[in-house]
Amino acid sequence: MNKIDLNGKTILVTGSAGFIGSNLVLRLFKDLSAGTIIGLDNLNDYYDPSLKDYRLSVIEKAKPAGIEYKFFKADLADKATIDSLFEQYHFDVVVNLAAQAGVRYSITNPDAYIMSNMIGFYNILEACRNHPVEHLVYASSSSVYGGNKKVPFSTDDRVDNPVSLYAATKKSNELFAHCYSKLYDIPSTGLRFFTVYGPAGRPDMAYFGFTNKLLKGETIQIFNYGNCRRDFTYVDDIVEGIVRVMQGAPERKKGEDGLPIPPYAVYNIGGGQPENLLDFVNILQEELVRAGVLPQDFDFEAHKKLVPMQPGDVPTTYADATALERDYGFTPKITLREGLRHFAEWYKDYYQK
Ligand SMILES: NC(=O)c1ccc[n+]([C@@H]2O[C@H](COP(=O)([O-])OP(=O)(O)OC[C@H]3O[C@@H](n4cnc5c(N)ncnc54)[C@H](O)[C@@H]3O)[C@@H](O)[C@H]2O)c1
Repeated sequence: MNKIDLNGKTILVTGSAGFIGSNLVLRLFKDLSAGTIIGLDNLNDYYDPSLKDYRLSVIEKAKPAGIEYKFFKADLADKATIDSLFEQYHFDVVVNLAAQAGVRYSITNPDAYIMSNMIGFYNILEACRNHPVEHLVYASSSSVYGGNKKVPFSTDDRVDNPVSLYAATKKSNELFAHCYSKLYDIPSTGLRFFTVYGPAGRPDMAYFGFTNKLLKGETIQIFNYGNCRRDFTYVDDIVEGIVRVMQGAPERKKGEDGLPIPPYAVYNIGGGQPENLLDFVNILQEELVRAGVLPQDFDFEAHKKLVPMQPGDVPTTYADATALERDYGFTPKITLREGLRHFAEWYKDYYQK
C-alpha cells in the first residue's frame, strides 16, 4: 500500500453538501494543518435542500486557518466543468461521494441514477485519467450484495444479482474503476457503505422518516413484517474509515507481462452487527423520548404497522469488515444506541428549538 500524508494535499470531496460528504469535510478540517479542500455538490432537491444549506453553513463556520476551502455548485454530469476543475486544481486525492442515493427512488426515477452515478462517475474517471491523482476513493454500497444469502457479506462474494437500479449503478462504478485502474494505472478504492445514519442525516432513510412521521402522529410502516436485519453504521465510523483509506492507496505494480496490475481495491465499511428492524425501532423510540422529541406517554404501538417487503429491498445486510481491520486497522465502534442518541439530540435541537 502507498502511504499518503494528507497534509498539504489538494483534495476534492464530491457530494460535500450531502450527509457523509459534509462530515468528511469537517473531519478533514480537524485533521489537517495545511492543504486545499474543494467541495462540490449540485444541491439537488431529492430531499429538503435546506438541510444541504445547513450542512454547508456548518462547514463555512468550521473552516480553520491554514486550510484553503472552496465550494462549487456543479453537476458531476457536466463533463466540461468537472474537467476544468481538475485542470485548475490538480487534485492529489479525490473522494467521490456525490451520487443519486436511495433504493426505492430508483424504481420510479431511473434517469437520475444514470446521470449522476453512471455519466457522473465516468466523468470523474476521465478527469482522473487526464489529470492523474494519487488516489481515487469512491462510495459504493452494501446494496451490491443484492439478495446474498451467505452472511456476513464479504468482498470475495459474487455480486452479480442487483435487485435495484441503484445497486446496479454502484456495482457498475466498481467495474468502471477496475477498468480505469488497469488501463491508466489510477489507484482506486471503492467503499461499500452499510446503512449510514447520524445527525443531519438523510430524511429519506428509515430512522429519519420514522421520526418525522411519529412526530406528525402518523403510522410508520415496518417492512417485511419486521423480519429485516440491517448493519447500521454511525457516520463518524464511516468517516474514520474513509480518512484511513484515503491515506493508503493500492500500490502501482507491473505484472509479468510488463502491464500494470490494477491498483484497485474494494472494502466493506459496516459495523458487522446487524440489528433486527423491530429492535432498531424500539431503541429509536426510547432515544426520541429521552431527547424530548416525543412525549413520555407516546403510544408507539398505535403508530406501527407491519407490512410486506417492498420491491428493491433486501432482507439482510451484514458486513464482513475484517479486510478493513486487517489493512487499515479499523472496525466501526459506535453502538446503535449511542448513534441514535446523537441523532435524537440533534433532531430536537434542529427542528424543535
Ligand atoms: N447513507 C447511506 O446509508 C449510504 C449507504 C451506502 C452508500 N452510500 C453512498 O454514499 C454516498 C454519500 O451518501 P449520502 O448518504 O451522504 O447521500 P446524500 O444524498 O446526502 O449525499 C450525496 C450528495 O451528492 C449530491 N449529488 C447528487 N448527484 C449529484 C450530481 N450529479 N452532481 C453533483 N452532486 C450531486 C447531492 O446533492 C447530495 O448532497 C453516495 O454515493 C451514496 O450512494 C450511502
